[in-house]
Amino acid sequence: MHLTLLVGSVHGNARQIAQTLALAAPDYGVSAQVMDMQDHSISIFDTLGLFVLCCSTTGSGDVPDNAQGLYQSLDAQARYLGHVRFGLVALGDSSYGETFYGGAKAFQNRLHDLSAQLVGEVCVLDALDATEPDAVALAWFANWVQYARSLDAGLSRKP
Ligand SMILES: Cc1cc2nc3c(=O)[nH]c(=O)nc-3n(C[C@H](O)[C@H](O)[C@H](O)COP(=O)(O)O)c2cc1C
Repeated sequence: MHLTLLVGSVHGNARQIAQTLALAAPDYGVSAQVMDMQDHSISIFDTLGLFVLCCSTTGSGDVPDNAQGLYQSLDAQARYLGHVRFGLVALGDSSYGETFYGGAKAFQNRLHDLSAQLVGEVCVLDALDATEPDAVALAWFANWVQYARSLDAGLSRKP
């Protein structure tokens, strides 16, 4: 199973989480690569595959600057993404209230509109939470990989 981790980050927290997950991936039999959203548009989703978006929030519920290009291309070059399966690691700070993890939610909504399938639960990492975010993300990832693999098995059983 191959996984692409797409990073949307302002100060590097989301990038660090993505790198932690990429390092752990081989333990679960997954090959993984980390890519900055900055370098990509909707065409990153042209290839079949599995994605995890690691995305923080800036401004007032906005996607980070390095994610703007990819995010806007999901609108400007909108197309059917029914073949895409993705997980979501959502970084934010619950003290922002209604805009809590708004950046990741924006991606989730837009990808949903284009028929991409969210795999599993969203991993929400709250900056206010005292728990080590890497540990939370790794625990989420272990379950997430198992779930994604079970979907794969289901797909390959289909006639
Ligand atoms: C200027 C600024 C604005 C922010 N706005 C929000 C927000 O609207 N909602 C939210 O949940 N978190 C917000 N945050 C919190 C960040 O998303 C959080 O600290 C995250 O861990 C940053 O990750 P990053 O280093 O990958 O960008 C904001 C942080 C900053 C510095």
